[in-house]
Amino acid sequence: MPAELICFSPGCRARFAITDVLYNCPRCGGLIEASYPDWSYEPAALKKLWRERRMSNLPLDASGVWRYREIIPFLAESDRVVSLREGNTPLLDAPRAAAYAGLDRLTFKHQGFNPTGSFKDNGMTCGAAQALRLGMKRVACVSTGNTSASMAAYASAAGLDPIVFIPHGNISYGKLAQALDYGARTLQVEANFDQILALVRTLADRIGIYLLNSINPFRIEGQKTIVVEMMDQRDWRVPDWIVLPGGALGNTSAFGKALREMRALGLIDRTPRLAVIQAEGSAPFYDLAHAPEGASLRAVENPETLATAIRIGDPVSWPKALYEVRCSNGLVEKVSEQEIADAKAQIGRCGIGSEPASAATLAGIRKLRAAGLMRGDEDVVAVLTGNLLKDPDYIYRYHTGQLTTPSGTKIVSTFANQPTVVPNDPDRIADLLS
Ligand code: F0G
Repeated sequence: MPAELICFSPGCRARFAITDVLYNCPRCGGLIEASYPDWSYEPAALKKLWRERRMSNLPLDASGVWRYREIIPFLAESDRVVSLREGNTPLLDAPRAAAYAGLDRLTFKHQGFNPTGSFKDNGMTCGAAQALRLGMKRVACVSTGNTSASMAAYASAAGLDPIVFIPHGNISYGKLAQALDYGARTLQVEANFDQILALVRTLADRIGIYLLNSINPFRIEGQKTIVVEMMDQRDWRVPDWIVLPGGALGNTSAFGKALREMRALGLIDRTPRLAVIQAEGSAPFYDLAHAPEGASLRAVENPETLATAIRIGDPVSWPKALYEVRCSNGLVEKVSEQEIADAKAQIGRCGIGSEPASAATLAGIRKLRAAGLMRGDEDVVAVLTGNLLKDPDYIYRYHTGQLTTPSGTKIVSTFANQPTVVPNDPDRIADLLS
């Protein structure tokens, strides 16, 4: 199966070897994607093969990424793959969250069930495989926390040296702790995500490190499988909407590419609409989607949100993401800190839980329903991108009435669940509980 890299810019489309180390097109500066010009499969046979692999104990088949390896055929051989049994994340019905948002029914695809607790693992197993194939020794990323946790785990498992760059003071301790535990060299830079990405891009060439941010096209390949697995789990019934939070916009790019490819391969017969939700203080993609046709992204210089995972003002993958949103007849919404916090508590009450950025989905759906842009009887899947335990501090503050926005506004703890301190006294406790 010949695979190649191709420039994403419509006016360029320059082609490169799949083994070239490229993050941007050397001719025009455009984004790069993996492409498989000659692929064709018999859709029913492929679906059957993928279903049968669920019964297999081979590590490659047990992975919820590599099980679908026919749709990510960039490796010549799969013997260097490092899997931590990523993917395999559940679809969960959430009636309470559906009612909160004004839907008849809502399903969460919970990527927080991944080995390091976020969707990044789907992409990282592919990025690490490509790093090994290229003979890389050191890998690096800048991250709001989840990419660094995931990269640290996969790099260490693969015998690579992980170097992590994170914004000092602006990632949750859960994520920082993961990078440390998984053995990453961890540099806390006094700058924000966008500034550090620019820094790391110059350093990558200078000191010879392989970048595993989502501008790396192999990360995107892996993240495609989130949607492929979703369709497989739904017996290929296409939903009306797929809703996801938007930060650096790698995931939006991956979902859109997956949908286009599945359609071209005859695996699905229509395309669900993508709804990308941003936090109000970090919403350059929302602004772009609502700007006149042909506009370019205007970066938000000082992005702010308590959903630190999506605290990004200059998302590099915006050209891909904009294309994918348009191709799917999708839309972009933004939600406030209060809306995210309350939606998060509602997801928790479903017994499901998530980290704050993931809850932007439910807040966004509620807003889209209220605006009449989504119908109550539509079939909606929202992607919860990260595990509840990634950011327990946020949760504790919300439930105890201590959560404030970065600008100092107090978040109202609408659905507070305060812990109660009690004496070691059975009578008093019995009274309290009666
Ligand atoms: N949700 C979570 C939990 C994330 O960690 C991220 C991104 C997103 C949503 C947004 O996805 O960037 O593909 O649009 N986190 C990155 C990181 C930036 O460094 O961990 P995106």
